[in-house]
Amino acid sequence: MKEEIKNIEIQLLLEGIYRIYGYDFRNYSLASLKRRIKQRMAAEKVDTISGLQERIFHQPESMQALFYDLSINVTEFFRNPNFYKTFRKKVLPVLKTYPFIRIWHAGCSTGEEVYSMAILLEEEKLYDRCKIYATDMNEMVIKQAKQGIFKLDAMKKYTRNYLIAGGKDEFSKYYTAHYHNAKFNSSLKKNVVFAQHNLVSDSSFNEFNVILCMNVMIYFNKSLQENVIDLLDNSLCNFGILCIGEKESLNFTSFKYIYKQLDDHQKIYQKMT
Ligand SMILES: C[S@@+](CC[C@H](N)C(=O)[O-])C[C@H]1O[C@@H](n2cnc3c(N)ncnc32)[C@H](O)[C@@H]1O
Repeated sequence: MKEEIKNIEIQLLLEGIYRIYGYDFRNYSLASLKRRIKQRMAAEKVDTISGLQERIFHQPESMQALFYDLSINVTEFFRNPNFYKTFRKKVLPVLKTYPFIRIWHAGCSTGEEVYSMAILLEEEKLYDRCKIYATDMNEMVIKQAKQGIFKLDAMKKYTRNYLIAGGKDEFSKYYTAHYHNAKFNSSLKKNVVFAQHNLVSDSSFNEFNVILCMNVMIYFNKSLQENVIDLLDNSLCNFGILCIGEKESLNFTSFKYIYKQLDDHQKIYQKMT
C-alpha cells in the first residue's frame, strides 16, 4: 500500500511538472524515476515526495536540477567498442555505395558518440559525404558537445576503446591536449549540426540513412519506447539502419517484423520496407 501511494505521488509530481514546465517525464521508467527522485530529495533535504513537489512546483531552479538528474548523461568515446567494430564491418560497405549519407544521433549527450562516429567515417574516407545531426533534449549537453572538449584523463580508456573498435591510427591524432583537457579537431565537426530535440514531444525533422539512438530508450516505459521507435521509423528511409543500445531491443515491439537484425550481438537493424 505504501509503495502504491508513493507511485501515485510520483505520478502527481510528473503531471504537475508537465503542466507547469512542459517537460514530459510521465512515461519514463518508474524504477529509474524513483532512483533520481530519491537522489533529488536528498540533495534538497526533503523527506517526502510532496515536500519535493512543493519545491519543484514553486522554484524553477529546483526543477532545473531535477531535469539534469533525469537526463542521465553518462557516455564515452567508442562506448561498447564492439558495436563500432561491427558497424565498420557490416554497415560501412553499404554506406560506401551511397552518394550522400544523412546520420542522426538522437540522445547524443555530450557528444562522445558523435565524435567517435566522425572519426570512424573519416578513417573510412566517408566523412565528406555525410551530414550528421546530433540532438539531445538537454541544451547544456548540446553546448558541451559543440565545444568538443573532454577530460584528458579519460583519454587512456578511450584510446583502448578506439583500438578495440578497429581504430586505424593514433587516437591522439584527433585531439590537442591543453592543461587537463583534450580539444578535438574542429574538422571532425564540420559536417555536424548540433541541436536540441526532444524525442517525447518533438516530431521528425528529416529523413536519414542511419539513426543511432543508443542507451536512451532504456529509461522509457514500454509505451513510450513504442512511440519513440515509431518516430525513428518515420525518420528512417527504406533499408535504413537503426542502431540502439546493448541492453535495448526491438524484439518486444511491433517493429520486430519490419526490421532485420544484422548481427547476432550488436543491436544494428535494417528497415526492410
Ligand atoms: C545515457 S545518455 C546516452 C548517450 C549516448 N547515446 C551513449 O550511448 O553513450 C542518454 C541521453 O538521452 C537523453 N534523453 C533522455 N530523454 C530524452 C528525450 N526525451 N529526448 C531526447 N534526448 C533524451 C539524455 O539527455 C541523455 O543525454
